[in-house]
Amino acid sequence: MADKVYRASTTAPVNIAVVKYWGKRDATLNLPTNSSLSVTLAQSDLRTLTTASCSASYPTFEGDWLLLNGEPSDVSGARVQACFRELRARRAALEAADSSLAKLSTMPLHIVSENNFPTAAGLASSAAGFAALVRAIADLYELPASPSELSLIARQGSGSACRSLFGGYVAWRMGDKPDGSDSMADQVADAAHWPDMCALILVVSAAKKGVSSTSGMQQTVATSSLFQERIARVVPQNMAVMEKAIRDRDFAPFAEVTMRDSNSFHATCADTYPPIFYMNDVSRAAIRAVEQINAAAGRTVAAYTFDAGPNAVIYYLEKDTERVVGTFYHVLGGEIDGWKKDAIKGLKPTTSLDGA
Ligand code: ADP
Ligand code: DP6
Ligand code: CO
Repeated sequence: MADKVYRASTTAPVNIAVVKYWGKRDATLNLPTNSSLSVTLAQSDLRTLTTASCSASYPTFEGDWLLLNGEPSDVSGARVQACFRELRARRAALEAADSSLAKLSTMPLHIVSENNFPTAAGLASSAAGFAALVRAIADLYELPASPSELSLIARQGSGSACRSLFGGYVAWRMGDKPDGSDSMADQVADAAHWPDMCALILVVSAAKKGVSSTSGMQQTVATSSLFQERIARVVPQNMAVMEKAIRDRDFAPFAEVTMRDSNSFHATCADTYPPIFYMNDVSRAAIRAVEQINAAAGRTVAAYTFDAGPNAVIYYLEKDTERVVGTFYHVLGGEIDGWKKDAIKGLKPTTSLDGA
């Protein structure tokens, strides 16, 4: 009889930071130079679906493998290996304590993963991707791991992934221990605390970015003096104001910090030598459109933010859907090159945040 195949599947959502992680103080352990804060989006919008399996009949000479969006992907990198190693060690401890458990920790892992949105285009695919990878294997191994413990492991795959283990409003505390054991995410507030928050995603380009987040932030740390100002003063201040704005459900400071922090992060990219440009003309047109929406309303109704890519994420409250989505929809009607009507995600205003 053929050996049993053990299998577990899970999905994980993307999160889009409103105070950005940009900089590593330890590239091996993947420890950040600053704390960060994000909003986890609804899985109905952007998500990764990952299945992890293992079997004694999987050929050991092939080792572990990962099929990402239908293409074989390299698993020999230190970050994927760190996740596999941490999870296997926890499974091995369970097997050592209970000899009736199947020895899954000794079997090759086969991972199949699909993102339902552009990969490596600045829409946080590494966040959803590593959160799903870690949780799928933890489920496969039946580990009694809390979201915090999984967050600690996912951080080693991709920093932003540590925040996608939680729904709602999530902070990644940078920590100060040299071994990184206190560098993980926690939930500032669940989605129900401020349920009328919505996110509109404008896919300006689905192309893979020229400079990966990993490499871009290391170049910034090495060459930008503006970056020193950002981590010493700008981010700590933004974190404090942002946490209070979320606690108070106060959209104006939430929006201002979101926009200022995105601008500050992209300014450090421009101050990197040679400079890194993630935004393009269409991104800048989106910034102007948000400014016009806010000016016309006479109050802050929308906030833009851009990760390491040209794609815009616009946060707004449900009551302002007509104003925000209506304006962008009009713009997307063909007046600005590069934006397509069918590229709008997050049009359903009530489902833009995840309760999980
Ligand atoms: P993004 O802005 O999309 O997060 P990054 O440069 O941070 O871009 O990371 C992209 C990389 O993340 C991919 O090249 C791939 O190595 C990894 N990645 C993306 N999606 C997945 C996934 N579903 N499973 C495993 N790894 C993934
Ligand atoms: C601009 O988490 O992708 O999206 O840890 O090297 O994988 P690695 O980097 P990654 O960086 C994300 C950068 C950002 C801001 C953020 O998500 O906080
Ligand atoms: Co990323």
